[in-house]
Amino acid sequence: MKRLFAFAAAALMLASCAQKTAVTSELVKSMSSPDGQLTMSFYMTSEGTPQYSLKFADKDVILPSSLGYELRGNLKAQNLVVNSDVVDKLDNDPSLPFNVGFIVESIDTCSFDEVWTPVWGEEDQIRNHYNEMVVNLIQVDGASVNTVMAQADANNGNDSESALEGKRMSIRFRLFDDGLGFRYEFPSQKSLTYFVIKEELSEFKMAGDHTAYWIPGDYDTEEYQYTQCRLTEIAQNFSKALNRNDSQTPFSPNGVQTSLQLKTDDGLYINLHEAACVNYGTMHLLLDPKTLTFVSHVTPEANGWKGYMQSPRTSPWRTIQVTDDARKQLASRLVLNLNEPCALDDVSWIHPTKYMGVWWEMIAGKSSWNYTDELPTIDLETVDYTQTTPNGRHGATNENVRKYIDFAAANGFDAVLVEGWNIGWEDWANCNKDYVFDFLTPYPDFDIEALNAYAHSKGIKIVMHHESSSSVRNYERHMEAAYTLMNKYGYDAVKSGYVGDITTPGDHHYSQFMNNHYLYAITEAARHHIMVNAHEASRPTGLCRTYPNLIGNESARGTEYQAFGGTRPNHVTILPFTRLNGGPMDFTPGIFEQNLEAWCGNKSHVNCTIANQLGLYLTMYSPLQMAADTPEHYAEHMDAFQFIKDVAADWSETRYIEAEPNDYLIVARRPKQATLTGSAAAFSKGHDTWFLGGVTDEQARSFTVALDFLTPGKTYEATIYADATDANYETNTQAYTIEKRMVTSADSLDVFMAPGGGFAVSFLAK
Ligand code: NOJ
Ligand code: CA
Repeated sequence: MKRLFAFAAAALMLASCAQKTAVTSELVKSMSSPDGQLTMSFYMTSEGTPQYSLKFADKDVILPSSLGYELRGNLKAQNLVVNSDVVDKLDNDPSLPFNVGFIVESIDTCSFDEVWTPVWGEEDQIRNHYNEMVVNLIQVDGASVNTVMAQADANNGNDSESALEGKRMSIRFRLFDDGLGFRYEFPSQKSLTYFVIKEELSEFKMAGDHTAYWIPGDYDTEEYQYTQCRLTEIAQNFSKALNRNDSQTPFSPNGVQTSLQLKTDDGLYINLHEAACVNYGTMHLLLDPKTLTFVSHVTPEANGWKGYMQSPRTSPWRTIQVTDDARKQLASRLVLNLNEPCALDDVSWIHPTKYMGVWWEMIAGKSSWNYTDELPTIDLETVDYTQTTPNGRHGATNENVRKYIDFAAANGFDAVLVEGWNIGWEDWANCNKDYVFDFLTPYPDFDIEALNAYAHSKGIKIVMHHESSSSVRNYERHMEAAYTLMNKYGYDAVKSGYVGDITTPGDHHYSQFMNNHYLYAITEAARHHIMVNAHEASRPTGLCRTYPNLIGNESARGTEYQAFGGTRPNHVTILPFTRLNGGPMDFTPGIFEQNLEAWCGNKSHVNCTIANQLGLYLTMYSPLQMAADTPEHYAEHMDAFQFIKDVAADWSETRYIEAEPNDYLIVARRPKQATLTGSAAAFSKGHDTWFLGGVTDEQARSFTVALDFLTPGKTYEATIYADATDANYETNTQAYTIEKRMVTSADSLDVFMAPGGGFAVSFLAK
């Protein structure tokens, strides 16, 4: 420890004596992953900048990259008053470099190994195994540097650590077999109490011009398709990658979102993301194409600053996953492992859910959320719907909701989502409207009490819908009453939404302020025993480990875009590597009628086959799974619909069998018997069951899958739902075959996936 300290002091002396000398970097300490394959090294530069690097065996993953911050300069001694900052202009403010002038005070190391049990997930048990290095740094100012050096000289490097003065920051590194996480920690200290981030300066210096699978960096939306190109080609492809959204703020042609999947020419899969983003803005990555270096780019607050801090506080974890096998990236639980354990004492009310919804018919344009077409604007306090004529297309009517409840009950589902049940939809997505919805008052044709009673009598729950229209103040204002109303009628899950610009002027969907709102909505919901599925909120960073009532998020381009112009088939082959890295997605699969024009005049075509939609119940992991199409469309294909009835939504075991980002994936999963409900429980009836599914991009693909995941010695009835040989996502979407066969773990299965297609198999032990 003392030796390290002496090194840092000497380095500082060098910097102050010879100002023009090139910056040099010296290794301070290295550590290996538990399996020895990864090596992380920590360095200090001659300017007192902390750096780290990462290697996979002898391959560079991250070249020495600098760490630190630029803080708002006028810390106003120790007493910065946050409110007074708002009026100040970012550009006129002096900044305080918090990435130079550091010395290493001490380094702590430890190892950790535990197995924990998620409330729901892809497996029963998750191993959290890492080696840790915590580097405790002090930023010494000019006077202290001299003192430090003088004392170091006088004591021959054996001076007391308590003599050091300056601002303290620690960097905690956790090295797992599948990657590295690091975060900044600001201990309680007099010289850094309240502070404001001007920029986080975490670098990720790439060792080559890797292939990137990316969506545009944007402070307000993730609803984009992915582009695959070299790092140096991102800027030239950027404008092509932008599709319109109700709220969008791209910030640079070299800005991309995480979770960012990369592939090196020599076959490494690298993924950059973050974990446990709490009380902090969401991180994007800004590439310098000349140096192939990404730097963290945190979503700003409405006033441009990048975050308000009060020590003691930590940043979110920055994560770098790395494997030489794409399947291991999908099996990595590093992001979950870096989150805190479950914060809820009682989780008995949280349950995986399969649901249908009065939803797709509105998205596709067959019916409407609004009750009438007569009201161009609405004042919620005075509107009188009895004086208006219904438009005849309202989706959430008593009759229509009953139809969905009947179908869902008859087919063993858990729940039915109903959107457009509450007043206000005639005028909801308008410019900065504050009082958009009250989340309490149903339309005249939606009998909340009777419908809930009807649903419950058939074993179905209604899923609540709260579209905030991004009027966050209004939503928070009504939240307690809205959750209380849910408790009164027996709703236990809410789908919330944040369409349009955040109504607080200048604020963004992924700011610290908004991330605090989303977490507030989750923790308040937990008090009411309510599960949350938030759309348009920040992309997940594994917080579902800590708050397992967060059972879903959208936070990417979901199935709805198949009705808004279509989505290319490769989309579902990259999402598991990117968006799903932080937590489950409410992707809403199960579209059986791809020809929307024939159904409801919508010219958008759904780019998939029916077998592809079945495969998604395996490949898009979520404890919340929707059968998104309508009862009528399922009634035409009840043989294929059987798979959606049988499949589970919660798993004891998962095996990724084939995978390549943006091309294909195949996964096998064993259901968690204890949480099976409805038709999935009826299928298993206590027998050993497995499910297998796959999806492909525009390319037809064939694979031979060894069935060695099945229990040896048992015989299973395999029901194979596959694309017909002439199936195609554009021209022949409903061509599928269903075949039954007896198999054992010694067998293998030849599977075919048509362009834009997929397959699904259920295995039932006899
Ligand atoms: C966008 C959501 O993603 C969609 O599912 C929802 O139906 C609409 N907003 C209306 O809230
Ligand atoms: Ca959406």
